[in-house]
Amino acid sequence: MEVRRVAVIGGGTMGSGIAQVFAQGERDVRLVDVSEEVLEAALGTIAGSVDRLIRKGTLEEGAREGLLARVRTSTHVEDAVGDADLVVEAVPERASLKFELFERLDRAAPAGSVLASNTSSISITSIAAHTSRPDRVIGMHFMNPVPVMRLVEVIRGLATSDETTRAVVTLAEGLGKTPVEVSDYPGFVSNRVLMPMINEAVFALMEGVADAESIDTVMMLGMNHPMGPLALADLIGLDTCLSILEVLHQGMGDDRYRPCPLLRKHVAAGWLGRKTGRGFHVYD
Ligand code: CAA
Repeated sequence: MEVRRVAVIGGGTMGSGIAQVFAQGERDVRLVDVSEEVLEAALGTIAGSVDRLIRKGTLEEGAREGLLARVRTSTHVEDAVGDADLVVEAVPERASLKFELFERLDRAAPAGSVLASNTSSISITSIAAHTSRPDRVIGMHFMNPVPVMRLVEVIRGLATSDETTRAVVTLAEGLGKTPVEVSDYPGFVSNRVLMPMINEAVFALMEGVADAESIDTVMMLGMNHPMGPLALADLIGLDTCLSILEVLHQGMGDDRYRPCPLLRKHVAAGWLGRKTGRGFHVYD
């Protein structure tokens, strides 16, 4: 399967990063969001990130214009996916939202195209069940910040075909990423391992074991993590962390995944991390 045209649904942090990586990989990209403002911000984020890569010498200056021109935006899902070889969904982590979207994508995208989800924890099998092509539905889980992180977790739903999996693995490799194939299970591998650590850090904060700065410093200097768990939660988004923990808690039926009350409190307050200027840390 050749992938020339890619539609990315959702212009947030992950969607804009995914669009950028495909454009860097010489694909034509349609980036879709319901909000013009979000799309405009996404183009700004992509331009900023591309400039950063050029300053570092990872990208050549001459590539800038063509790369940015390959990303076109749209507020209409149906228009944008009509000729797509691959659709990558990156909308917020709400199962009902994704199910409804995949029903629309299934109706509007070419019959032979692959529908991928960047979900961080929602079952690919259940998303696929909302389409007439479960063999062509797969998880393509990028990590934040997408242009920098090398991993793509490739998640096979129960009905995902070998052909679809092979195509997505080859595509990810062609984008300079390292794909790792995993089964559809709550939290997959990445978040099953990462989220309990983040949750435990929030419990330590709530219980007054140490302040946020100290907890992060312990993990950075003691375990060589590039950033502490609370700063990482702020980068991911505390609402996303909470949604993933809920999926893990419910899906595994085990209280060790219960979200910390302090995490719930921050989300209720709208302190969602970097994107709102405040999470466990405060940002300019
Ligand atoms: N676009 C382009 N380049 C970027 C960038 C972006 N958005 N963000 C960072 N960079 C580049 C910088 O230019 C820099 O490059 P060099 O090292 O070659 O100079 C490099 O990345 C490091 O950036 P900084 O020096 O500005 O900052 P840093 O050293 O603190 O690194 C970081 C930032 C890459 C985010 C690093 O802290 C890190 O790796 N953190 C952990 C990130 C992580 O764990 N992500 C996974 C989250 S989980 C997830 O996404 C999945 C989920 O389902 C929740």
